[in-house]
Amino acid sequence: MLIDNFINLQNNSVDTARGGNKKCFLFDDYALLHGNFKETDLKQQIIIGNKLKNDGVNICPILEYRIDGPIDNFGYVSGYTLQPRAIGDCLYRHNMQITEYKKRLKQIAQMDLKFLDKFISDWFAITNSGLMIDPSKCENFFYSDNGICFIDLNVKHRVYPLKTAFTEIISVLTGLGLIYRGTDVNDCMQIIKNTSRLFWARGLVLTDIRDIISHRFDTVLTDKQIDLIIGTLTTENKTDNRSVISLQNTGMDITGR
Ligand SMILES: Nc1ncnc2c1ncn2[C@@H]1O[C@H](COP(=O)(O)OP(=O)(O)OP(=O)(O)O)[C@@H](O)[C@H]1O
Ligand SMILES: [Mg+2]
Repeated sequence: MLIDNFINLQNNSVDTARGGNKKCFLFDDYALLHGNFKETDLKQQIIIGNKLKNDGVNICPILEYRIDGPIDNFGYVSGYTLQPRAIGDCLYRHNMQITEYKKRLKQIAQMDLKFLDKFISDWFAITNSGLMIDPSKCENFFYSDNGICFIDLNVKHRVYPLKTAFTEIISVLTGLGLIYRGTDVNDCMQIIKNTSRLFWARGLVLTDIRDIISHRFDTVLTDKQIDLIIGTLTTENKTDNRSVISLQNTGMDITGR
């Protein structure tokens, strides 16, 4: 099996990336991860992940796994998983330089609605499939000009309202806590505005959009700036926004509800 070659290759070498739980060994086209897993979850994740990938969702599915330890009292075993290596670099890093942060914020602000809508529709495809995204770290999303790729997925079904998705997506796209470290407000507003347009077209009501923006960005944006964002939405034609969405979501439940 392919995974055995990579386990042999990484033997005695130092991990090349690391998360809170897993060690990661990066190769040209593959990422080998070592951590603790539930075998039943891994089996399910392989099936769901590969189906999503075949459907065109931008994720790195688990291809193979190898157990290398006994099962513990909670049902976890230590072992390796092999995934395709994500293209690009993580969306934001929690300790990135402010100049680097602003550069990435600008890149996201300049992306067209189709780019953002692909990210949002992939997000719903994943959460509707029985996999869970971890939105608590921007390192779990890889950015390239061609799109945003999801890594670090787990098996879990949960009820996932549109409001929660909107909160998590605007937070991730603007760099979570980094936003407070001196922000380019125009870029931040542009990202929030574009994301709001797409959620509004998906059925999220304006009062919810306003509440979430006010709550999430209260130290970044003034009430006037938030009014401006909501104001542009109300003067726009919802049908135009819907047409962006329909380009991407053939046969999918676009509301994500
Ligand atoms: N498929 C991949 N392609 C490229 N890099 C990857 C891939 N999978 C993991 N990595 C790198 O390894 C790091 C850790 O992986 P992952 O996020 O899956 O582990 P984790 O320990 O669960 O993370 P967390 O800190 O979010 O709990 C990632 O942040 C990323 O830098
Ligand atoms: Mg992670």
